[in-house]
Amino acid sequence: MNPTRYTTANGAPVPQDDTSITAGERGPLTFDNWRLFEKLAHFNRERIPERVVHARGTSAQGVFRLTRDLSDLTIADFLRGVGKETPVAARFSTVAGGQDSNDMERDVRGFSVKFYTEQGNWDMVGNNTPVFFIREPSKFPDFIHTQKKDPRTNLVNWQNRWEFWALHPESFHQVTILLSDRGIPASLRHMHGFSSHTLSFFNEKGERHWVKWHFKTNQGIRNVSDEEAATIPHDHNQRDMVEAIDRGEFPSWTVKIQVMSEEQAREFRINPFDLTKVWPHGDVPLIEIGQMELNKNPDNYFAEVEQLAFSPSNFVPGISGSPDKVLQSRLLAYADAQRYRLSANYQQIPINQPRCPVNHYQRDGLMAGTCPVTGQSKEGGQYGDTNFYPNARADQGAPVPSPEFSEPPMPLEEEAWVGYHNNRGDDNYEQAGNLYRSFDDGQRDRIANVFATTLQGVTAPIVSKVIEHCYAADEDYGRRVEARYTALRDA
Ligand code: HEM
Repeated sequence: MNPTRYTTANGAPVPQDDTSITAGERGPLTFDNWRLFEKLAHFNRERIPERVVHARGTSAQGVFRLTRDLSDLTIADFLRGVGKETPVAARFSTVAGGQDSNDMERDVRGFSVKFYTEQGNWDMVGNNTPVFFIREPSKFPDFIHTQKKDPRTNLVNWQNRWEFWALHPESFHQVTILLSDRGIPASLRHMHGFSSHTLSFFNEKGERHWVKWHFKTNQGIRNVSDEEAATIPHDHNQRDMVEAIDRGEFPSWTVKIQVMSEEQAREFRINPFDLTKVWPHGDVPLIEIGQMELNKNPDNYFAEVEQLAFSPSNFVPGISGSPDKVLQSRLLAYADAQRYRLSANYQQIPINQPRCPVNHYQRDGLMAGTCPVTGQSKEGGQYGDTNFYPNARADQGAPVPSPEFSEPPMPLEEEAWVGYHNNRGDDNYEQAGNLYRSFDDGQRDRIANVFATTLQGVTAPIVSKVIEHCYAADEDYGRRVEARYTALRDA
């Protein structure tokens, strides 16, 4: 077999790549070293901005199989017809660390799934926890600053973390999950995933239902303690996923949903759009709808993982958002981040391209290209020759809107005056307390120990506030955290 020809980026054969061109054996480089210049210049541009959060991640591709027909609830094509298969790409991540940080940190894990449906890409951008720390979106950058490194020392700073949590009692449900035994999943295969947010479905009749998504690991939940995590290599999650799939041991998740009618939502005792709360399964049962299996590793990490761009705003007909304020702010944040990180045409990068025709009137921009997956649509859109709408060229194939996919209007359930409204919520402790009460004695001791260890060195007023929140969630919770904190402090 002839060896593959080594070429420059313009395709010209490289005669040799062991030495650069110099004036004499010991002399300086000459200006005709364009091959060397190209190589060095491209190298300088290898890095792109990492994700501002969830920078360290592992991805795999596979399939979602529908096991329950949902035509009564949604016009989403991939949720209609038992047995229907939809290709997916999933990415799992830690939140706070940079791209080369430790996989085994006690941190929330991101759980994102891109469904390449025949009506466009739907992205489920969730976490391994059913709730989140905040219900007010403007707090997100401040919250993340406290989780990432201190601006002066460039070190993780528990004072900053606890100060944020202490000042935000609504975070205590999520803090109780994070500091519990579930805080460090043993691998990405051994954790659940959740939309966390309330999303919605709409059907042909214009009926809307509120929906939460759950991905239940078929591998079983497995976690490790801080002590065990400290002995595990920092790249464990990446290695575990790649090697499992290479061995043919394909991880899978049972996909379930919780569904609530608009009427039920109006009477529900909990605000169904409060991201710090779950819908108890006793009130809103889980309905099994499918299986997700990951059976292919990416061939090129940069192209298929670093450039993989998820956004909660990537909806398809039949799936939409809800009045959850955090969700709504995310509809803007992700695509904005990706335009910065990957360019305005990030949806044209092969891993992000829909597997269905794309026809619109957006034009040009950095890295605009033709669409190799869908073929170039001849008329209209980025790939065609008509760049304005409306036009009189529908008969020549220029793209036209599809009113049959219109979403029913989103209801406003109150007298809605525009302004700053109280977003403190009605209760910050009940569900944190319920979760704590579900722990056995050993779990209670271990969570108290994680609180106590990470609170050492934190200022006294913040420690008192944290302990107050624990007492407010559950008397025993407060007592154990206080006792363990004091014991460690005085040891
Ligand atoms: C106001 C609230 C939030 C804002 C502004 C925000 C913003 C962001 C941004 C800018 C990124 C990086 C996107 C990229 O560069 O591709 C990101 C990543 C991510 N966020 Fe959020 N986020 C918020 C809340 C949440 C919540 C509540 C969840 C889960 C329920 C979540 C899950 C994720 C995940 C999983 C990723 C990584 C996606 C991937 O794998 O590429 N975020 N977030």
